[in-house]
Amino acid sequence: MNVAPRPPVKLGVLISGEGTNLQTIIDAIACGDLRAEIRLVISNKASAGGLERARRHGISAATIDHRGFANRRAFDRALVEALQSHEVELVVCAGFMRLLSPVMIDAFRGRIMNIHPALCPAFPGVDAVRQALAYGVRFTGCSVFFVAEGVDDGPLIIQAVVPVFQDDDEAALAARIHAEEHRIYPLAIRLYQEGRLEIDGRIVRIRDHQPATDLGSLVNPRPD
Ligand code: GAR
Repeated sequence: MNVAPRPPVKLGVLISGEGTNLQTIIDAIACGDLRAEIRLVISNKASAGGLERARRHGISAATIDHRGFANRRAFDRALVEALQSHEVELVVCAGFMRLLSPVMIDAFRGRIMNIHPALCPAFPGVDAVRQALAYGVRFTGCSVFFVAEGVDDGPLIIQAVVPVFQDDDEAALAARIHAEEHRIYPLAIRLYQEGRLEIDGRIVRIRDHQPATDLGSLVNPRPD
């Protein structure tokens, strides 16, 4: 039976910085790996490099500076208004360093994704890579999840694991994690676009999914 492909999903991407994850989403759309259209990129910082990336690709890009609002809810009301006026279906936080209030979460319930450079629920907050190094974990990674109330917390969609090596500094470990982020974020959005993600409380079920039973397990350091 031939099933008609679903239409491209309309994205609103929220950023605060460089926007390398935004770039991989732009690239995945351009090469046909992801059926999506970025309707709008919003940064809370005018200096965010990601704004320029968006404009270079002809994507609408706006700054909504959180400092111009009395509180988090008022800022989020402006976000909701901008996203809804661009008919955004799925909100993609890509290095957006603001905690969302119920105003945003209720307006887009089950339709906001975020990425975090750790294996959630470990190391929430702004300096996840530094926290992982300081803790001495042997593995860390990155997680894409549906945003819920709370910091870097919500039903998990996909995670990637990276090893931590003895002489890693923050830059080396961050680069290893970033490379995995760039693989998993477009994948998570694709699963959404295909209508395959079902949120059941804390659990995200993936329809028509073959478990990767051949992944095996990892040991780090490897026994001598
Ligand atoms: C990414 O590493 C993302 O996981 C992180 O910000 C970086 C943005 O990079 N997000 C968080 O730490 C959220 N708590 P980018 O601007 O190059 O995409």
